[in-house]
Amino acid sequence: MDQFNSARSLVRALAPSISVTCLRPGAATRASRYFTRNFPGEILYAVKTNPRPEILDAVHAGGVRRFDVASIAEIKLTAERFPEAHLSYMHPVKNRDDIRLAYFRYGVRDFVFDTVDELDKIISATDGAGDLTLMLRLSVPNFHAELDLSSKFGVGQDRAVGLLLRSRPLAQRLGVCFHVGSQCMNPSAYGTAIHLVRDLIVSSGMMLDVVDIGGGFPSLYQDMSPPPLNAYMSEIVMALKTLPVGDTCEFWAEPGRALVAESASTLVRVELRRGERLYINDGTYGSLFDAGVPGFIFPARAIRAVGRLSPALTPYTFYGPTCDGMDFMKGPFLLPEDMREGDYIEIGQTGAYGCTMRTKFNGFHSDATALLTDAPLLTLYGRRAATRETDRPEAASLCSKAL
Ligand SMILES: Cc1ncc(COP(=O)(O)O)c(C=O)c1O
Repeated sequence: MDQFNSARSLVRALAPSISVTCLRPGAATRASRYFTRNFPGEILYAVKTNPRPEILDAVHAGGVRRFDVASIAEIKLTAERFPEAHLSYMHPVKNRDDIRLAYFRYGVRDFVFDTVDELDKIISATDGAGDLTLMLRLSVPNFHAELDLSSKFGVGQDRAVGLLLRSRPLAQRLGVCFHVGSQCMNPSAYGTAIHLVRDLIVSSGMMLDVVDIGGGFPSLYQDMSPPPLNAYMSEIVMALKTLPVGDTCEFWAEPGRALVAESASTLVRVELRRGERLYINDGTYGSLFDAGVPGFIFPARAIRAVGRLSPALTPYTFYGPTCDGMDFMKGPFLLPEDMREGDYIEIGQTGAYGCTMRTKFNGFHSDATALLTDAPLLTLYGRRAATRETDRPEAASLCSKAL
């Protein structure tokens, strides 16, 4: 894979006419190292967030040896890349054949459930295996998350007690997991959820072998500056200490976004300018889903192949390449006022749920990838780069929601 010291060097060398995924795997290693050093338990990387081999390797290099997998394809990919890795099948609704394959071919022993039917399915598909770690997914408030994950999965306290009692004799190890929602902006969400686990332990009288606090840890976006990750860790450590569990109880976390968001950006080209609208060659059916549907404002910096860009900035809206009206990213994205056809934009923080969500809709799809050695546009873990190629780092603060 070609390597460049910046997106600008890439543009100068290749002048790409398709969008390019620019990888900075070192950013994923740095983030993973933070989590493996600061979380008081096991880190399971949520593979769905970005299953690219370079990113899996980067997370592994940061000390992660366990993976949250949600499909047989993710299991196959991860098991083949890291034969020694510990895989946990954390999708609450699984295909019966996939459970079988996961157990018998890939040695998976951890399975999640939130209904009696799924529990029965796991037991029957593994031929009544006696060595399972069964994880009950508890429903917890997602108030502080940008993306709510509580409506589809999870069981309330009322039914959780019955499910725990039923699963205890079937499990070698029994656990509870939850998800506070993705891009959780307030550490107190973890405290609240862990206290619900405490209530469940007390009301069921069950000893737990595993408590899994899920994903949800935030990344940094142009319009979203979460509290420092240390505040999340302190809240979690304090809340976990209140749990009535034995010394052998394991704590797990399944971060996705916070490990890999900074590890990629997307380099796009402007195909047309119409007022403050920029029509670009990637969009919500491509690498920029989160810029469209939940409306995240990704950091963006302009690159002109030849010549200078104006220092004055204008707020723009982006339109993607397909013919669909939903292929629209409201922004505002603050870029030089003289943007025009042929200019490039590096859109940062697309390492989480970016290339992994791409479709081939309307025939627009780019697999072009390059490695960059410079810093991500924004970072929670270290130094930050400029928002425009010629800017000083503090210019990043110019791009704000206040527009
Ligand atoms: C079960 C599970 N674990 C972990 C994650 C990762 O969440 P995040 O990227 O918010 O950290 C998800 C995301 O959908 C999930 O469904």
